[in-house]
Amino acid sequence: MRLIIGLMFLLYAHLAPAATLTVETESGSRRLSTEQLLARPDVREIQVPGDVSYHAAMRYRAVPLKALLDGVPDDAHLQFVALDGFTAEIPASLILDGHGAEAWLAIEPTGETWPKLGEGKPSAGPFYLVWLHPEAGHVGPEQWPYQVAAIKVLADPAARFPAMRPDARLPADAPARRGFAIFQRNCISCHTLNGQGDAKLGPDLNIPHSPTEYLRGDMLRTLVRNPQDLRRWPQAKMPGFDTKVLSDADLDDLVAYLKHMAGRKVSP
Ligand code: HEC
Repeated sequence: MRLIIGLMFLLYAHLAPAATLTVETESGSRRLSTEQLLARPDVREIQVPGDVSYHAAMRYRAVPLKALLDGVPDDAHLQFVALDGFTAEIPASLILDGHGAEAWLAIEPTGETWPKLGEGKPSAGPFYLVWLHPEAGHVGPEQWPYQVAAIKVLADPAARFPAMRPDARLPADAPARRGFAIFQRNCISCHTLNGQGDAKLGPDLNIPHSPTEYLRGDMLRTLVRNPQDLRRWPQAKMPGFDTKVLSDADLDDLVAYLKHMAGRKVSP
């Protein structure tokens, strides 16, 4: 009996689930283990000077994310699903051609865990999307998903969520159209609009009321720049967006989009 338990223990120790990354594309789903990823010929040791999650310079073993996304079309969206189910969406175009910004998938080696993200929190592993030269592609702090368990290739949100789309009759260069792109880049991971989207963390930004209807004057801009400048409480979760991530012109376009959508409510 003791022998059997011993053997089972050994077996379990051996089968102990190493971390795996699931990559789901049109052509199917692949599971890649930490070991498989670390054995790839394109693994590099990279230095990330301004790591967004650790607020420090960090070193990682990483693979260029592009290399894992063979055949993914430019207009797709990538959804990064964290261990706790939190999702972040990033346009594939930014990863495939970031105008100089390079997306790397950092891999936490088994048995060599990275530092904790904070008191009582786990590390950013097992997989973490980090950027080199993020400023070149205007990569925002929301675009550094950590504790990644899966990467899913989705169709463009404009196609999946028609109720988020601005009026098709708007001219191509309308601020509300640009604002929709900015909304998708910065807000869609946490906020639904007209009840559509995958987000679960923040409130819907159009129903029952658009913030452009109840926030006076510049208050919406103030909130986006730094939510704590409007209302303050310890567990607030919304990050601020400074001018490096969202220029004043981008913010104008975003507000134009939200105002426009206030006239396009969809009753649930
Ligand atoms: C990381 C998640 C996250 C992102 C990204 C995010 N928000 Fe939020 N937002 C929240 C959460 C959560 C709340 C609720 C208050 C809180 O906990 O901070 C909130 C609250 C708000 C509110 C206040 C709603 C109200 O009246 O109570 C507005 C307006 C808003 N967000 C707009 C935006 C816009 C615009 C963007 C994109 C530039 C954005 N948010 C990006 C998480 C996020």
